[in-house]
Amino acid sequence: MTQRIAELRAEAEAAISAAAGSAELEQLRVRYLGRKAELPNILRAIATLPPEERGPTGKAANQVRQALEGLIAQRSEQLAGGELEQQLRRDVVDVTLPGAPPQPLGRLHLLTATRREIEDVFLGLGFRIAEGPEVETVYYNFDALNHAPTHPARDRQDTFYVTDDVVLRTHTSPMQIRAMEAQPPPLYLIIPGRVYRRDNDATHTPQFHQIEGLAVDEDITLADLKGTLLAFARAIFGSDREVRLRPHFFPFTEPSVEVDVSCFMAHDSHPPAQRCRVCKDTGWVEILGSGMVDPNVFSYVAEYGYDPEKIQGFAFGMGIERIAMLKHGVPDLRLLYDNDVRFLEQFG
Ligand code: DAH
Repeated sequence: MTQRIAELRAEAEAAISAAAGSAELEQLRVRYLGRKAELPNILRAIATLPPEERGPTGKAANQVRQALEGLIAQRSEQLAGGELEQQLRRDVVDVTLPGAPPQPLGRLHLLTATRREIEDVFLGLGFRIAEGPEVETVYYNFDALNHAPTHPARDRQDTFYVTDDVVLRTHTSPMQIRAMEAQPPPLYLIIPGRVYRRDNDATHTPQFHQIEGLAVDEDITLADLKGTLLAFARAIFGSDREVRLRPHFFPFTEPSVEVDVSCFMAHDSHPPAQRCRVCKDTGWVEILGSGMVDPNVFSYVAEYGYDPEKIQGFAFGMGIERIAMLKHGVPDLRLLYDNDVRFLEQFG
């Protein structure tokens, strides 16, 4: 039996010294010292040996077990040291190398770029920029904007209600009221921001962006509105654009108009047999809603200097997504929110 123990020792020592990694070492530990290994079995079976063999066998087996445990611990330390060394060598950074080429700069998201472009146009026309809360009261979002109590936009199917009196604003128009409460006329203001509606499909997302416009003064007319929007349309869609106003309805403007811009697609840029995808061959593209501020709206802020008998104004509201998509031929609204860099890289 002591013969066999000596053999085991030689075999195990050779294997442990040659182990190349800590995983292999652990396997060897199990193979030679684990619960089912031969050496521990010999130790457990000492009592079954003839009495005169018990002493020498037990002693030899114990010695070998201790020797192997020591060897494993020693090899394990060696290996750990080696692995650390290797890791350090792999991770070495040569700080004397020249700097990497400069990282490419990011770019503005198409929506941000479009918002800023529109803002710049109106800043140039003498408007200021204001922002307002996205969580808004029903009073500002609907009541003070002259929405009848039964107006369909108030429907819980269309509007996110926080409580009975608080909504996620469905448009940027409530800032018209807040702005007039904050400052007497004259007022020339645009209000960009996020708005929310319970809609979700190829052409609607629950959250999107608008830019509101409001001009209030003593002598503002529909001609001012048209001139302002013509300047806007030409700045954004090209200097030979025209605009036209079509009668429409909004609760807070009277009269209300929808505004079209003349199609900006070069009509030789698509096959003659195909309809123009921008204007459907009508020659006009709807870009926003607007109108003259309804005197009823002024009556909500009369105490702040907005006497409906003395002042008038125009207002407009446009979707930033819509302007960006029209201008750049973006076929699906959701591309603006997927944030696939292959799409984003094409702009800015
Ligand atoms: N608030 C309207 C909407 O979200 C857009 C709008 C229309 C704003 C006419 C205006 C306006 O200021 O005069 O659909």
